[in-house]
Amino acid sequence: MAFERKILCIGAGYVGGPTMAMIAHKCPQYHVTVVDVNPERIAAWNSDTLPIYEPGLDQIVKAVRGRNLFFNTETEKGIREADIIFVSVNTPTKTFGAGSGMAADLQYWEKTARQIRNASTSNKIIVEKSTLPVKTALAMERILTATNNGIHFEILSNPEFMAEGTGIKDLEAPDRVLIGSRETPDGLKAREELVEIYANWVSRDRIITSNIWSSELSKLVSNAFLAQRISSINSISALCEKTEADITEVAGAVGMDSRIGDKFLNASVGFGGSCFKKDILNLVYLCRHYGLHEVANYWEGVVEINDYQKERLILKMLGAMFNTLAGKKICLFGFAFKADTGDTRESPAIYISRRLFEERAELVITDPKALTNAETDLADIKKEIDFIKDPYEAATGCDAIAVMTEWDIYTTLDFEKIYTNMRKPAFIFDGRNILDHDALFTIGFNVFPVGKPPMTHF
Ligand code: NAD
Ligand code: UGA
Repeated sequence: MAFERKILCIGAGYVGGPTMAMIAHKCPQYHVTVVDVNPERIAAWNSDTLPIYEPGLDQIVKAVRGRNLFFNTETEKGIREADIIFVSVNTPTKTFGAGSGMAADLQYWEKTARQIRNASTSNKIIVEKSTLPVKTALAMERILTATNNGIHFEILSNPEFMAEGTGIKDLEAPDRVLIGSRETPDGLKAREELVEIYANWVSRDRIITSNIWSSELSKLVSNAFLAQRISSINSISALCEKTEADITEVAGAVGMDSRIGDKFLNASVGFGGSCFKKDILNLVYLCRHYGLHEVANYWEGVVEINDYQKERLILKMLGAMFNTLAGKKICLFGFAFKADTGDTRESPAIYISRRLFEERAELVITDPKALTNAETDLADIKKEIDFIKDPYEAATGCDAIAVMTEWDIYTTLDFEKIYTNMRKPAFIFDGRNILDHDALFTIGFNVFPVGKPPMTHF
C-alpha cells in the first residue's frame, strides 16, 4: 500500500515507542519508523518481550508492528525517507561542567540535529518530542541551517504529557495535545500538518497551538506544577505528624475546593520518575540564567521538600525502631517509582535503600515488575541485598516492611500470615498510605503511615 506520509521517530524509549505505536495504530495511512542507537532496545521492540512495561502497549504494538510500525537502527536511511521526524531522545540532567546537576544535558539532542542535517536530502518537519529548555528550537534551527544546502527544516514543539503506567490511556485520550511553531507562513503550515495527524483520533478542541517558546516552556511548567502539588501535600504531612491531624482528611477537605481539585494530593515517600526532578532543576537553571533568583529559589524548594520527605522516612524508622537499624532486616515493598511500571528512574526506593544500607540494615527488596532494574540501580551493593519476587517470602524473618510503591497487590496480601513469619516487634512504614492501618494494628503490627498518627503497641 502507498502510505500518505512517512514518519520517523529518533529515540525508542518510554516516549518514542508508545507515542509512535499510538500514531501507527490510529493512522494506518502513515508509515511510522522508530530508530535508536541501542540495538538491544530495538531488538526488544521487535521481540515478544517489549523493552518497557506499560499496560495495553503489548496489544497495540503487536497489532501494528510490521503493518505500518517498524523498529530499526537505520537512522540515516530513516531520516532520508521521512517527511516528519519526531525527536524523542533522552535529555537527562547534566552531570559535568557548567550547569552540572541542574541544566539539561543536550548532547544527545544536538547529535540528533547534526545527524538530521547531514542525512537529509529533502525538506522536513522536525518535531521536538523530548522535554527541552525553552529556546532549544532556536539552537536546533541554527544547527540545521548551518550548511546552506537549500533544504528547509521547520521545527515544531510537541511536548509529551503522558505518565508512565497510564501511558496508553493518556495517549489515546489526552487532556490536551500542544503544538508550538514559529508564527510564519511555513511554521503555521507545518503546525497544521501535525494537527492533522493528531486529529485522526483527538478531538480538535483538545489540540491546542501556541508559539514555539510557550510550548517548550509549558511542558517544564506542567511538570513543575504537578511536582509542586506533591511537595505541598508532603510538607503538610510532616505538620500532620506533629499535630495529630490526618493528611488524608486534610487533602480530602482541601481537594474538594473545585479551584484546587483533588488529584495529585496523595502524600507519599516522595515523588520519583525520570522527569519531575530533572525538569524542575532545568527550570531553576533557566531562571538563574536569566537572573531570576527568587523564582529559581521558589521552584528549587519543591525538590528540597522531596529530598526532605525521603530522609524523614529514614529518621522515622530510626526513631520507631529504638534508634538503630543496624542488623535489622527491612523489606521494601515495591521498588518502581510508581505502580504499573517497571521503571525505577529516580525512584525514592533507591535513596531509601542506600540510606538503610548506610545505617547497616539488612535489605530485602520485592517488586512485581522492577527487580531487574532494582539490581542495576543498586549494582554496587547488590551482593548485600536479597531480591525476592514473592512478597510473603520477602517479608519472612524481617523486622519491618516499608511500602515504597502503591502496587494494588500489596493491598490484598494476607498480613496475618506475613505477621506470623516476621520478627517481633514487627513494624510497617506505609510510604504510600495504601494499607488498612487499623487492621494491621489489630494484627499486632506497629504502624507508621505518612502524615497520620502512628499506631504502636508500646
Ligand atoms: P529513554 O531514555 O527511555 O529513551 C531515549 C532513547 O533515545 C534511548 O533509547 C536512547 O538510546 C535513544 N537515543 C539517544 N540518542 C540517540 C540518537 N542520536 N539516535 C537514536 N537514538 C538515540 O527516554 P524517555 O523516557 O523516552 O524520554 C525521552 C524524552 O521525553 C525526555 O526528554 C523526557 O524528558 C521526555 N518525556 C518522558 C516521559 C516519560 O514518561 N518517560 C514523559 C514525557 C516526556
Ligand atoms: C509525569 C507527569 O505526570 C506526566 O504528565 C509527564 O509527561 C511525565 O512526568 C514526564 O514528563 O515524564 P510520571 O513521572 O510518569 O509522569 O508519573 P506521575 O504519575 O506523574 O508520578 C510521578 C511521581 O509522583 C511518582 O513517584 C508518583 O508515585 C508520585 N506521586 C504522584 C505522589 O507521590 N503523589 C501523588 O499524588 C501523585
